[in-house]
Amino acid sequence: MPDRYPPINPKCPHMLHGGDYNPDQWIETPEIWDEDMRLMRLAHCNAMTVGVFSWAQLEPEEGHYDFSWLDTIMDKLAENDAFAVLATPSAARPAWLSKKNPEILRVQPDRHKIRHGGRCNHCPTSPIYREKTQSINRALAERYRDHPALLVWHLSNEYSGECHCDLCQEAFRAWLRERYEHDLARLNHAWWTRFWSHAFTDWSQIESPGPNGENSIHGLNLDWKRFVTHQTVDFMKNEMVPLREFTPDVPVTTNFIGAEVFVGRDYWKFRDVLDVVSVDLYPHWGREEESVPDWQTALQFGFVYDMHRAMLDGKPFMLMESSPGAAFSTANSRLKRPGMHRLASLQAVAHGSDTVQYFQWRKSRGGAEKFHGAVVDHAGHENTRVFQDVAALGETLRRLDDVVGARTNAEVAVIYDWENRWAIDDVHGLRREHKDYFETCVRHYGAFWKQGVAVDVINEDADFSKYKILVAPMLYMVRPGVAERIESFVRDGGTFVATYWSGIVDESDLCFLGGFPGPLRRVLGVWAEEIDALGKDERKRVTPLPGNALGLTGTFEAVELCDLIHAESAETVAIYASDFYESHPALTRNTFGEGEAWYIAFRDRDPFLDPFYEALIKRAGIRRTLEKSLPLGVSVRVRGNGRHRFYFLLNFTDLPRNLPLGSTRLADVENGMVFETEMVLEPRAALVAVEWESRTEADPFHLGGGAKARWWDRESEGRAR
Ligand code: GAL
Repeated sequence: MPDRYPPINPKCPHMLHGGDYNPDQWIETPEIWDEDMRLMRLAHCNAMTVGVFSWAQLEPEEGHYDFSWLDTIMDKLAENDAFAVLATPSAARPAWLSKKNPEILRVQPDRHKIRHGGRCNHCPTSPIYREKTQSINRALAERYRDHPALLVWHLSNEYSGECHCDLCQEAFRAWLRERYEHDLARLNHAWWTRFWSHAFTDWSQIESPGPNGENSIHGLNLDWKRFVTHQTVDFMKNEMVPLREFTPDVPVTTNFIGAEVFVGRDYWKFRDVLDVVSVDLYPHWGREEESVPDWQTALQFGFVYDMHRAMLDGKPFMLMESSPGAAFSTANSRLKRPGMHRLASLQAVAHGSDTVQYFQWRKSRGGAEKFHGAVVDHAGHENTRVFQDVAALGETLRRLDDVVGARTNAEVAVIYDWENRWAIDDVHGLRREHKDYFETCVRHYGAFWKQGVAVDVINEDADFSKYKILVAPMLYMVRPGVAERIESFVRDGGTFVATYWSGIVDESDLCFLGGFPGPLRRVLGVWAEEIDALGKDERKRVTPLPGNALGLTGTFEAVELCDLIHAESAETVAIYASDFYESHPALTRNTFGEGEAWYIAFRDRDPFLDPFYEALIKRAGIRRTLEKSLPLGVSVRVRGNGRHRFYFLLNFTDLPRNLPLGSTRLADVENGMVFETEMVLEPRAALVAVEWESRTEADPFHLGGGAKARWWDRESEGRAR
């Protein structure tokens, strides 16, 4: 693994700053284009995403392309030392295309065909749509292959939704034949179709699930979701053919939907195809009235960032979209409080993004998103709070050249697995409407976030061997080979943590026979016999046993789910202290080879996970970013490039926070101020500092001497913006 990754495109060895730019909405007023360029320079923007929704403007009539406006924009970007993240326009299509070829219009799960309109709603199987998208992509790639502004390809936009048309049904059946090796009996077994007399006797009888049709076969539901991912990736590969042909060196990405609610695609399946991962994230800051402090929002989005960084083994990702102003997709469009723009943007960089990009550059004059936060407001000038915040951030990003490509080294991994989530969401039983898989993973992750411990968020198929602690909350589905890999991880000295509701089904959603947690039973040393789903306000008590290995004391609360387990080879660390399962094990530890495996049988409420993981972090010898505990609401992240370690010090609270630095000495990369022993982080402060080993050693950044000499002047001298 390299100490440092190369820049996303070596043409621009800087942090990318910019956003979705829709100059085609302003074709009649080209003076606005010139004004855009002036404003981009002022805001230190160097990467603009163009052409995402431009198909009707690029191909106003079938086969008649008009690139004149895009030529001008590409040239203007290049003249202004900026680059284009050039999009393929498949997310929205011209009306003539839908009119002439209704097969490209999607059929919804209830089998109703949509009409033309909206966006992100094409059929991914339609040969006509595949041909048309490839043709326009070919024209774009051929035309701009040598253009100095071309930096990154941006495929389509947030591939999402499903199509249930006849073409997709046929493709689904073909995919199933392949998956089950043309053996219908295998499929019937995997889907357990004798249940409710659902056996298939011919492939042609199989259809996608729908609200007014089949939706009770969980194996089918799961395979359909797998197919939707497969078909999207296949569509995407088709889009890429001309891009690879004409521009093999230009990196290709597609923007993922980063919100926690997006369950429609297994993004891990895109990793073999993309050169760089990118994500759109719109955190909802300022939810104090709903009792969600900003630090909790930050923690949740930290989880999402850490997943996107882990997707390509730690390679920096792109924050492709974020709102420079008010959040839009939330119930109320709350303005970002002063300081929040810088804090939120640097959080992305802290977690491994090499870009800060926005939706959108300029507010559109009409249409559904005319009030969405933008760098340039309808007022049209730079004298707005939002513009000034963006420009100030641009100034900071200019100083972070040395952070480009820098890595995060995580010794801990938390598993969040899409297929597992799909299967859990389908479960009838437990707490039917509130399985809370995502929330549970975030809560386990949160205990590390609060301690300043770096975490990779991975899936079941990832390599576990590089971690010291592996946490797999609610690992309900265990695919073939996973339990064996967990066993060898633990045998080799790793610490594994599992929870209630693990090891229940295989990859087809068939229950393991012979006792849960199925294939994890040996490594965990427990048998989970039953699980109790509690009422909303019900609580059970959990008491650690005296002298336990983690030094846990006091009483903890179990809520919602309590697994009734038998410790087999495991030792009991804590017991239930309520109900008929009083004195049953609630927390166990199993030594296995050189390592140990923990089983948390209950869903906890704070403060259990915090002391539990704090003790485990110490026990496993995990490095924290700072030696001492962090104050609540403060996040400290480190990215290193082999030569230097950059600290991101982020205060997500409205109060000043004292941050004990221990023996770490830091110098602020923007003003050279040196911090040692302790520092104060102002409310919503976001600082980037470089570790400064010793006062006496030669100062690599010339930060000494009263901190007057600014290191970036020397380091970045002569480099283009
Ligand atoms: C994204 C989308 C953008 C824009 C944005 C608004 O999901 O990709 O085009 O609509 O939401 O927040």
